[in-house]
Amino acid sequence: MSDIDNRFSVMIPREEVEKRIKELGAEISRDYAGKEIHMICVLKGGVYFMTLLSREISEDIPVSLDFMSVSSYGNEMKSTGIVKIVKDLDEPLQGKHVLVIEDIIDSGRTLHYLLGILKDRQPASLKLCTLLDKPDRREREVKVDYTGFVIEDKFVLGCGMDYQQQYRNLPYIAVVES
Ligand code: IMP
Ligand code: MG
Repeated sequence: MSDIDNRFSVMIPREEVEKRIKELGAEISRDYAGKEIHMICVLKGGVYFMTLLSREISEDIPVSLDFMSVSSYGNEMKSTGIVKIVKDLDEPLQGKHVLVIEDIIDSGRTLHYLLGILKDRQPASLKLCTLLDKPDRREREVKVDYTGFVIEDKFVLGCGMDYQQQYRNLPYIAVVES
């Protein structure tokens, strides 16, 4: 049993999350008409969102997937915004229309660093799609192309987001009461 059991409540219900993901899928399908999409999932949080979103992309648009896992260095390194690549992509990005999929953008450190690395690999285009955005917490500038929901500065769970590696599987977005 986790110490936060019974201390969280629904912030965005499942139906609303699913509806918004459908809308994002339609918007992305319009924007990428006539192209192919290479989705990059930032593990582990992005995995649920990427799976659901990819199923909402028009069948006319070929979609391929790849996965990357990153982790922040210790505290003193964190201030430089450097993150460590724990698992790199399997495929090169050159010439591809790359869409990075994240669960949530908080300080922006992870994505700021990651997008820099990915850009150097010369994709045809590079865009970012996040399920949630907490802009109040931003420390590094990140250009977000597609956002599911903008939320206030609260710790959230579910739809891929965890508390001590648990609760990622909740089909709704929950907020932890403080
Ligand atoms: P950033 O580098 O601060 O933007 O870190 C973003 C990462 O921190 C996300 O990909 C999540 O893994 C994690 N994170 C940030 N806020 C939350 C939250 O409210 N709940 C769960 N994970 C979070
Ligand atoms: Mg994440």
